[in-house]
Amino acid sequence: TQRVLTGITTTGTLHLGNYVGAIRPAIAASREAGVESFFFMADYHALIKCDEPERINRSRLEIAAVWLAAGLDTSRVTFYRQSDIPEIPELTWLLTCITSKGQMNRAHAYKAAVDANVAAGEDPDAGITMGLYSYPILMAADILIFNAHRVPVGKDQVQHIEMARDVAQRFNHQFGKGEEFFVLPEANVEEDVALLPGLDGRKMSKSYDNSIPLFEGGSKGLKEAIARIVTDSRLPGEPKEPEGQALVTIYDAFATPQQRADFRAALRAGLAWGEAKQQLFELIEAEIAPMRARYDALMAHPERIEEILQQGAEKARAIAGPLLARAREAVGLRRFN
Ligand code: TYM
Repeated sequence: TQRVLTGITTTGTLHLGNYVGAIRPAIAASREAGVESFFFMADYHALIKCDEPERINRSRLEIAAVWLAAGLDTSRVTFYRQSDIPEIPELTWLLTCITSKGQMNRAHAYKAAVDANVAAGEDPDAGITMGLYSYPILMAADILIFNAHRVPVGKDQVQHIEMARDVAQRFNHQFGKGEEFFVLPEANVEEDVALLPGLDGRKMSKSYDNSIPLFEGGSKGLKEAIARIVTDSRLPGEPKEPEGQALVTIYDAFATPQQRADFRAALRAGLAWGEAKQQLFELIEAEIAPMRARYDALMAHPERIEEILQQGAEKARAIAGPLLARAREAVGLRRFN
């Protein structure tokens, strides 16, 4: 069997990028024959980016409800909160001890924080915690503790998966005694929508404030966000060049090949941007409205979600526990006898 695993950091409300980059492909993969899946709320990762306890807790609940509303089948998927699996931080330490500092220096998130400090004329490490710095090692532990083969993610996470591979390789080499102790994981990026653009054409991201929320604000919120997608200033009737328009890329993420071709042809023939936005709204709404209704129903019963996650944690620990025990032995933490 192939193991598929992915997580989402619980720092806020999900946007369309999270849905098309991670949730939708992950759920599709979980329905394939011969696949065993592990989907989780990365709430330890959230502590690095957010210091509002209430927001983190709320986000954990919301994201769990999104996964369930999007069709996650708990009889096929092991579904849990990262912080319910103590084996993960323990493995993180074993991996931290074989990871070079130089490799962490090259991690995008850390480098971006340093560059921002330098540009602002501050100490390069100002405000950077060890949590941010060693973030990729915690993520490697998330993946390796279940020996996942495939990790569905957006393009922005690919470097982290490569780092997890490197760490796995180093562990195998140092402690594997010629065997493959950890599976080397591979990133699964949906090539069509590798990185969904936001309202302004940059990567859709909470931190750029350019997101289209998945469920927040309901159908009205979706429509209003779509109205704010930046387009060029061509008037109704004027031919428009579809390629490179954020609006068209977002359309593609929800459309069939035929719809994509028709939409481009209509724009080239002069479709007004306002009308194009209406079509985009209808396309997305058709896909997500049924999920939104399930989401609202799920959010009314947090105690049911809690129960699902408790069961998920139990399933997850039944796998993580034995693997951690083997890893401890491999590095020399054994019983005396
Ligand atoms: P996070 O929470 O930032 O994002 C969750 C998922 O959404 C994808 N994504 C996008 N995909 C396409 N277009 C976009 N504009 C876009 N924005 C976000 C991300 O690529 C990601 O797949 N470190 C991870 C969480 C994590 C994880 C893991 C993932 C922790 N441990 C182990 C996989 C495996 C993160 O912060 O993702």
